[in-house]
Amino acid sequence: MIFCMASKLVVGNWKMNLDPESGGRVLSDFQKAAGEFDPASVAFCVPFPLISPLQNHGVNIGAQDVFWLDSGAFTGFTSPDLLAKMGVEWIIVGHSERRGRFGKLDVPESTLPFFAETDETVNLKVKACERHGLRAIVCVGETLAERDAGKTDEIVSGQVRRALDGVATFHGVLAYEPVWAIGTGKTCDPDEAARVCGLVWQTSEGRTCLYGGSVSAANAADLFARDEIGGGLVGGASLKPADFAAIVGAAQNR
Ligand code: PGA
Repeated sequence: MIFCMASKLVVGNWKMNLDPESGGRVLSDFQKAAGEFDPASVAFCVPFPLISPLQNHGVNIGAQDVFWLDSGAFTGFTSPDLLAKMGVEWIIVGHSERRGRFGKLDVPESTLPFFAETDETVNLKVKACERHGLRAIVCVGETLAERDAGKTDEIVSGQVRRALDGVATFHGVLAYEPVWAIGTGKTCDPDEAARVCGLVWQTSEGRTCLYGGSVSAANAADLFARDEIGGGLVGGASLKPADFAAIVGAAQNR
């Protein structure tokens, strides 16, 4: 097997955090801490209203979701056409928190139907990204109950297949994010993360697969030492400039 990755990609997922001022500070502190890095291998996926104010900070600013239609009566949604015109490159698609699959639940369970992303909507969004030259970061991963039931491979490969169904050319990447490892401080064992990333790689016919789920300055080098792991999707640690710089450093020294 040849895993295609000249330099490993590290994407920060700020989720619903920061504002123009604090976000700008994180970006400049990150750049100071990181020193020299390959700018094509680093991106920050931020809340929609922060995209524009942060685009002049010299780092690649991406989004955390997208709708699949270009325009119309869809109150509150954001079109791929608009994001492409704004110069966005990377978009997280199908994050488990949008699928209602939380590592750490901070909302009442009765509100879970609101987080209604499905494999079908992920597929529509991937196709929309391809139409507009946007690069999707397609998230897949099992819950703890699914892992305990021995269903990890079936769940993950099924999500990958359905996300890419009918997608002729794919310019994005996949991200294996075990739901139980997200925001919980429980990282997947690097060998197991590499095994599942290898499965994603095979199922997607050779697409790069990032690992996400409690990636930290302490565990990044160990994860990125595995050929199957093409980089990281980083939540909590991407809000901490020194930690994120260390993670980027670990990815770029590969
Ligand atoms: P985490 O989040 O690094 O805080 O676990 C990762 C993600 O949800 O993408």
